[in-house]
Amino acid sequence: MSNDHRYSKSERLAVYRAIAERRDMRHFRPDPVDPTVLKHLLAAAHQAPSVGLMQPWRFIHIKDHDLRQKLALLVDEERLHTAEALGKRSNQFMEMKVEGIRECGELFVAALSDKREQHIFGRRTMPEMDLASVACAIQNMWLAARAEGLGMGWVSLFDPVQLARLLNMPPGSKPVAIICLGHVDAFYPAPMLKLNGWADERPLCELVFQNTWNSTEL
Ligand SMILES: Cc1cc2nc3c(=O)[nH]c(=O)nc-3n(C[C@H](O)[C@H](O)[C@H](O)COP(=O)(O)O)c2cc1C
Repeated sequence: MSNDHRYSKSERLAVYRAIAERRDMRHFRPDPVDPTVLKHLLAAAHQAPSVGLMQPWRFIHIKDHDLRQKLALLVDEERLHTAEALGKRSNQFMEMKVEGIRECGELFVAALSDKREQHIFGRRTMPEMDLASVACAIQNMWLAARAEGLGMGWVSLFDPVQLARLLNMPPGSKPVAIICLGHVDAFYPAPMLKLNGWADERPLCELVFQNTWNSTEL
């Protein structure tokens, strides 16, 4: 059946291409991003779906050099704790590059807003839907960045209480991502954790069930 709402073939391919070629980037060139492009990326984030249209995302552009260094130190600290918690895999973890905070052209912190308890629609039984909404915004930004030829990396290795204090965030708000953004020499051809032998992707067919958990199509 025909579908008049469908995008043209080249437009569809472009959408799927951005999805397939988006990578979590940790290697950056230091040059800044064109402010107009930055505005487009933030606008893309802001068009994300959100539970009850609460738009719980807040983005803090980190422009101050010293503040950027403090964020990097916070991540260095958590990286060591993570390594410790990983036990036998600690050395392998420490050999991997897990962020590009010091070198990326632009740095953001994405956060959950304060006063989220006022939003009940869609969150009464699952309050974490606010976090899901912020993740949708970050993903929009990530895909738009890839289409613009810019790399983006989501860093979650930090103590949120300490980061909130550094950024003077109000009670009830919570940082959820340090976002490294910028020009890159090349995009990784596959997830870096796969290239580093840390983890492998599972095929879709193992994760799609029919009717009940774990029952697959014959
Ligand atoms: C919620 C979330 C948090 C993440 N935190 C980190 C992180 O702290 N450090 C890091 O190197 N990558 C982080 N990543 C990136 C993942 O490692 C990456 O998405 C995954 O390995 C798949 O690779 P790809 O994004 O290139 O497809 C995070 C990704 C998500 C979705």
